[in-house]
Amino acid sequence: MSTLSLGLTRDSAVDRDEAGPLRDRRELFLIPEGTIYLDGNSLGALPRAVPARLTEAVSEEWGRGLISSWNSADWINLSRRVGAKIGPIIGVAGADVHVGDSTSVALFKTMVAACRMRPERRAIVLESSTFPTDGYIAAGVARLLGLEVRWCDSADPSASLDEDVALLLLTHVDFRTGAMFDMGALTRAAHGCGALMLWDLCHSAGAVPVELTEHDVDFAVGCSYKYLNGGPGSPAYVYVAPKHQAGLDQPITGWMGHARPFDMDRDYAPVEGVARMGSGTPPVLALTALDAALDVFGGIDHATLRMASLSLTDYFIDLVDARLGADFEVVTPRDSARRGSQVSLRHEQAYGVVQALIERGVVGDFRTPDLARFGFAPLFVTHVDVYDAVDHLVSVMEHEEFARPSYATRNLVT
Ligand SMILES: Cc1ncc(COP(=O)(O)O)c(C=O)c1O
Repeated sequence: MSTLSLGLTRDSAVDRDEAGPLRDRRELFLIPEGTIYLDGNSLGALPRAVPARLTEAVSEEWGRGLISSWNSADWINLSRRVGAKIGPIIGVAGADVHVGDSTSVALFKTMVAACRMRPERRAIVLESSTFPTDGYIAAGVARLLGLEVRWCDSADPSASLDEDVALLLLTHVDFRTGAMFDMGALTRAAHGCGALMLWDLCHSAGAVPVELTEHDVDFAVGCSYKYLNGGPGSPAYVYVAPKHQAGLDQPITGWMGHARPFDMDRDYAPVEGVARMGSGTPPVLALTALDAALDVFGGIDHATLRMASLSLTDYFIDLVDARLGADFEVVTPRDSARRGSQVSLRHEQAYGVVQALIERGVVGDFRTPDLARFGFAPLFVTHVDVYDAVDHLVSVMEHEEFARPSYATRNLVT
């Protein structure tokens, strides 16, 4: 069947954009002319409001206000204010979200705190295909606490659960394939054997609905530089269910988690609530950028976000099937209930394919050994972007642009 008869024309892409529920949001981003940005699952695009807000924070708050800005610009509560904006995106009260460390450090602190709540249990379960830092940190925590890392099969994580498991750690959406776990079913499975549940939301929050309270999740950690558009290295967030906050014993007991940091007491006494996940001085400039960036989510409900995301990924898959079906294997689930907001295509020359696309202004990325990955951030990617990206991909394949000798050496960051 032709792309015309399937309704896969560029005109149809324009129509889809005009009817889209998030059509007004792209204007809130600064995306370079001529760039089709399909890498918001790695580094989000720049929200238009951020540069001016950062300039103000640097010139006025830091430059003029100097140290008084901890009070006058309320830097001291900035983490709390950012947490309040992230809460609705992950289906929790903002007061239960702490923002401040890198994802890796947040994972470490949360894993230790969780495992300390199940002292009689010996195992942390996670999938062997998880993002590497999750596994590396779990191994470090296991060494520190004398536990065992148990690798589960992503096809059925619950098969690895028993009464010796303290914590199940899963990444909600897989960074390679874009496959999404059933958060409710797996959290219930963990609880069913007495374990606690920690979700890594790096590849889901901001692009797919996340309902932590509804699913009775114990802990969650996520980065803010992907679909939350906080900027390179922007701080991670941690959610701790209210029922666990009073007993929370995290390992980096710095003064910013103390009940009265400016009393300068000798002994540590944790502050009430999720703020006890704090350790040191918060990254004020990075938090300021994130605070401004998060406003692009104002007024968007989870159902609308999901509809917009699936419309883009469905459209991309349909176009690839119709125009490039012989060249690529779509490794992302076709079942929309199991799909995040990215689509990964397998090809043995995937690195060259991605580099050739980047030269044409279509930015996706490569994941070793053979995946070309495309992220569809529903706030700024349009159906016209998707149509044009596939057009470029068709040309890359037709002219074998992926085979250029310059692609024989890979960049450090791919
Ligand atoms: C699932 C997942 N977890 C963790 C991280 C990274 O953690 P950090 O922010 O500490 O670099 C990433 C980064 O891409 C990720 O995809």
